[in-house]
Amino acid sequence: MAALRYAGLDDTDSEDELPPGWEERTTKDGWVYFANHTEEKTQWEHPKTGKRKRVAGDLPYGWEQETDENGQVFFVDHINKRTTYLDPRLAFTVDDNPKKPPTRQKYDGNTTAMEILQGRDFTGKVVIVTGANSGIGFETAKSFALHGAQVILACRNMARANEAVSRILQEWHKAKVEAMTLDLASLRSVQNFAEVFKSKNMFLHVLVCNAAVYALPWSLTKDHLETTFQVNHLGHFYLVQLLQDVLCRSAPARVVVVSSESHRFTDINDSSGKLDLSLLSPSKEEYWAMLAYNRSKLCNILFSNELHCRLSPHGVTSNAVHPGNMMYSSIHHNWWVYTLLFTLARPFTKSMQQGAATTVYCAVAPELEGLGGMYFNNCCRCLPSAEAQNEVTARALWELSERLIQERVGRQTS
Ligand SMILES: NC(=O)c1ccc[n+]([C@@H]2O[C@H](COP(=O)([O-])OP(=O)(O)OC[C@H]3O[C@@H](n4cnc5c(N)ncnc54)[C@H](OP(=O)(O)O)[C@@H]3O)[C@@H](O)[C@H]2O)c1
Repeated sequence: MAALRYAGLDDTDSEDELPPGWEERTTKDGWVYFANHTEEKTQWEHPKTGKRKRVAGDLPYGWEQETDENGQVFFVDHINKRTTYLDPRLAFTVDDNPKKPPTRQKYDGNTTAMEILQGRDFTGKVVIVTGANSGIGFETAKSFALHGAQVILACRNMARANEAVSRILQEWHKAKVEAMTLDLASLRSVQNFAEVFKSKNMFLHVLVCNAAVYALPWSLTKDHLETTFQVNHLGHFYLVQLLQDVLCRSAPARVVVVSSESHRFTDINDSSGKLDLSLLSPSKEEYWAMLAYNRSKLCNILFSNELHCRLSPHGVTSNAVHPGNMMYSSIHHNWWVYTLLFTLARPFTKSMQQGAATTVYCAVAPELEGLGGMYFNNCCRCLPSAEAQNEVTARALWELSERLIQERVGRQTS
């Protein structure tokens, strides 16, 4: 290119090479235009690439821009005592219409947790996953452990938890994995778990609230609350309360709450719009298993949002996720009808590794640093139901959960 040669810079052959008869020039304010002397026309777009360009940066040292009597811009090289109509900065043009980044999102419903973590090293990071002995929780824990994190499988059944630890160690004998007892149906057990964890004096960078029960026949926990509500929501709420100082000390830290799209099919307020405990923890007569599950999953999102509001000033963020539809984990085992439905759906649903992907994405995605109070599906942000976005309900649920715990823990200690 003449301008480059003139400016003392060698060009490399490139797609920017002009066809014969064309020349590039610049306007006073640095826009590049193209002149065709044969056809006596000018245009903004490069005749070959169609790109618009402008020059980047200042003129080289010793150069000055001037305008001739016809209003044409020219350039004076004071050092070499010469003038030219070619802008020496044409060597450093930038596209004015850079290609838009591809609109396709980086990850989708087919992405696996391992793909999200690929190439990342989480050595020194501590992750707790509740309900990690099976299904999505197991794949979440395993994926982190295989990428160097120290992972605690917080499970109610130690035999199953130890078996899960062995399975991870079989894949990588150096994985730092450990099982700890956590029964979310018991506030005492949650308290014990937190005490034992804290006694280890470790950081906590990622807390995944994953454990859940589904389609359970009605039962009350030792704390006199309906089991689905306590396991899926209140137990996790208490766990986070007890570990929040560790989370803050470990900041930046992230909480991921595994919810479900089924949160959309319910409400937790009474007819006057007030949060109603009898809907959250109903009597046997009022109980419908599916509804109890849906309500607990709505609680998960409300809890995550409120948690984010309260802890994000301390560097702890929280997001809620939907892992996928009707994935063949052990979640369906409480009723043979669900087992049949999940079996029929199995060929069309996500694998457990794919089910763990959105959780893992929310736990590690660099673009989510400092961001929370959102809901994700297929590693993509989406809006939960209007009820799940209700800030008043989220605050009321938080206060109610605090009260329920205070009453029960107070009763245990007195
Ligand atoms: N599978 C799906 O299609 C689907 C769809 C939407 C959302 N989800 C959500 O994904 C999450 C994981 O479910 P999953 O499909 O992987 O089911 P899963 O295989 O049944 O895993 C649930 C885990 O929770 C544990 N758990 C149950 N009660 C507990 C308690 N009292 N204390 C501590 N842990 C307890 C279970 O332990 P045990 O083995 O001892 O029972 C199990 O490890 C859940 O939050 C679920 O709501 C799943």
